[in-house]
Amino acid sequence: MSIKDKKIGFIGLGTMGAPMARNIKKAGFSLGVYNRTESRAEAFRDEGAAVYYAPWELAEDCDIIIIMVTGPEALLEITGAIQEVLKTGKTVINMSTVSIDATMQAAEIVQSRGAEFVDAPVSGSKKPAEEGALVILAGADSRLLDELQPLFESMGRDIVCCGEVGYGTRMKLVINMLLGNMMASFAEALVFGRRTGLAFETILQTITAGALGSPLFKIKGQAISEGNYTKNFPVDLIFKDLNLVLHEAGKVGTPLPLASATREAYSGTVGLGLGNEDMAALVKYYEKIADIKIVDGGK
Ligand SMILES: NC(=O)c1ccc[n+]([C@@H]2O[C@H](COP(=O)([O-])OP(=O)(O)OC[C@H]3O[C@@H](n4cnc5c(N)ncnc54)[C@H](OP(=O)(O)O)[C@@H]3O)[C@@H](O)[C@H]2O)c1
Repeated sequence: MSIKDKKIGFIGLGTMGAPMARNIKKAGFSLGVYNRTESRAEAFRDEGAAVYYAPWELAEDCDIIIIMVTGPEALLEITGAIQEVLKTGKTVINMSTVSIDATMQAAEIVQSRGAEFVDAPVSGSKKPAEEGALVILAGADSRLLDELQPLFESMGRDIVCCGEVGYGTRMKLVINMLLGNMMASFAEALVFGRRTGLAFETILQTITAGALGSPLFKIKGQAISEGNYTKNFPVDLIFKDLNLVLHEAGKVGTPLPLASATREAYSGTVGLGLGNEDMAALVKYYEKIADIKIVDGGK
């Protein structure tokens, strides 16, 4: 059976999952969806998707089951809920960011039923998810990844084959450690620069003009200048990911002094009640501890 004839089931229609599922449908796949909060799934009925009211119903009916939920606990809850209906011929793809342990536990449950498992977390936020331009970090054997390529291409611009099951998750932890650290360095530079008396626009222009001018700094700098902290990738999720990174680093014996400090800054941001704001809200934590406002005149 060609992959185009397979029925795709998508579990978790949040900020990322909803646009990813829509892109699968747009690419011509037959789509079924499940979301814990039913109203989010109902919206897909008018778009021609089948709506399920339990993860196991979806998994029973679909050939490929994609899971895009918050973190390790949710992944394992869903894997547990669908395991009875898994069998040879079905494939489960986890695209959520979770721990390596949770990935391997989920893989074991799925494989013990004769089904196949792929870990394929994504790099890129809401906009790339909407544009089908995510970077997909896949872990599985190459035969299976080749077969899944058209499905991944409906959601992603780059599909990186990271190795066996578990290696997509490893790569995701590495890239999000860098993301967290970059955002923290950016926030610190903005606050330090403003304290020295430089104009916000001058700092932003300089950072984004030269070799440091990454899309991240441009996008987050623009959001900060507009005071727009509507979540794309919220503080709660990058904090979750840095905790996963440090847990893993502890296990493999790698000191991460920078990521440890960054984690504490996000912890402080969560403590300020900003967990549901975009990760750019980290700058508000730095503003608070330095007692400065970096936009609107400073102090
Ligand atoms: N946002 C980003 O920019 C971004 C970028 C890359 C990767 N990621 C990763 O992608 C994953 C999803 O992120 P998101 O931003 O889409 O999160 P989100 O908007 O918070 O959505 C989370 C989804 O998980 C579901 N969920 C949570 N716990 C569940 C449980 N126990 N059982 C069933 N469903 C459960 C939620 O259902 P309800 O609707 O019922 O709450 C919702 O559909 C996370 O692992 C995140 O770290 C996010």
